[in-house]
Amino acid sequence: TFTPRVFSGIKPSGDLHLGNYLGAIRRFVPLQDTHETIYCVVDMHAITVWQEPEDLKRWTYEIAAAYIAAGVDPKRSIIFNQSQVMEHAELSWIFNCVARMGWMERMTQFKDKSGENSENVSLGLFAYPSLMAADILLYKATGVPVGEDQKQHLELTRDIAKKFNHDFKKQIKALGHKGDFFPITETLATGPAMRVKSLKDGSKKMSKSDASDLSTIYMMDDADTISKKIKRATTDADALPSEVAGLAARLEAENLVGIYAALSNTSAEDVLGQFGGQGWGVFKPALADLAVARLSPIADEMKRLVADRGEMDSILRDGADRARAIAQPIMADIRNIVGF
Ligand code: ADP
Ligand code: NA
Repeated sequence: TFTPRVFSGIKPSGDLHLGNYLGAIRRFVPLQDTHETIYCVVDMHAITVWQEPEDLKRWTYEIAAAYIAAGVDPKRSIIFNQSQVMEHAELSWIFNCVARMGWMERMTQFKDKSGENSENVSLGLFAYPSLMAADILLYKATGVPVGEDQKQHLELTRDIAKKFNHDFKKQIKALGHKGDFFPITETLATGPAMRVKSLKDGSKKMSKSDASDLSTIYMMDDADTISKKIKRATTDADALPSEVAGLAARLEAENLVGIYAALSNTSAEDVLGQFGGQGWGVFKPALADLAVARLSPIADEMKRLVADRGEMDSILRDGADRARAIAQPIMADIRNIVGF
């Protein structure tokens, strides 16, 4: 029988925030029931921009701890650290030679991060999507739970898989493979809050690197801080609509309703069914209570876990061993196919 496999990862490049939780981590948990699940801390991606080595290490533990605290079971899932499985780097080099410069130049995230000129950004930042394709295809993962901001990178992963399957058709066949070598990976991005916005500007996504402190809810924020940030979130003055259509062109309102829906495992329709016609003075305190009730236990468990480095090291070591056991035979085939 065939168990579909999912892969996902988060960069240890800053403090985890509500966008990471709702767009990614929260959705890792139920997939454990239906898929073979591999969740990675992608430290090799993090260093595409400068990271203080001590911070990189601390955030690496924090992200692994967040996975577990949110409900990922290190026995049922593979939790590991990308740099501990060398095959990621090896396959990404091969993919650097499959992907075309033009494909990479079209990546909007690179353009956003490099700005007007690329003189001062790393070559790694440019090649980032090729490493991401390697992360996923090294395990022949068929599904990737990520937020909406990763859609274009997943499209590129599919392009790389298709080009590899095509370029090496003869060798793949000679190896005894029927059909394609790499699967065409699907993006698993459904439900509310696939793109959580800044609490201060509904046109921007919530991100690790936002300068304004009140714009971002961090997973480690205490209850008072979470409440304060939600109560001070920018909104218009109108009451909540009773239909989803009434959220059109109300970016901040749509964002807060989406966050409520995601945190309560319901939909925007349900939230508006409950709060339609009410003002922010009613909705914001309810949202603050919900966010605190969901996030605080996770933060407490994260703190407990990161304090136990011995336990975290043993989880990450075990995860890396299990990841390698899947990756190495696949990598052996790839080497063979390429002619190494
Ligand atoms: P960041 O953008 O915070 O640096 P990463 O690039 O490491 O985070 O992404 C980790 C995961 O979190 C990805 O699946 C990404 O899509 C998701 N993610 C990041 N920001 C958001 C957001 N604002 N809304 C929803 N998902 C997000
Ligand atoms: Na991102």
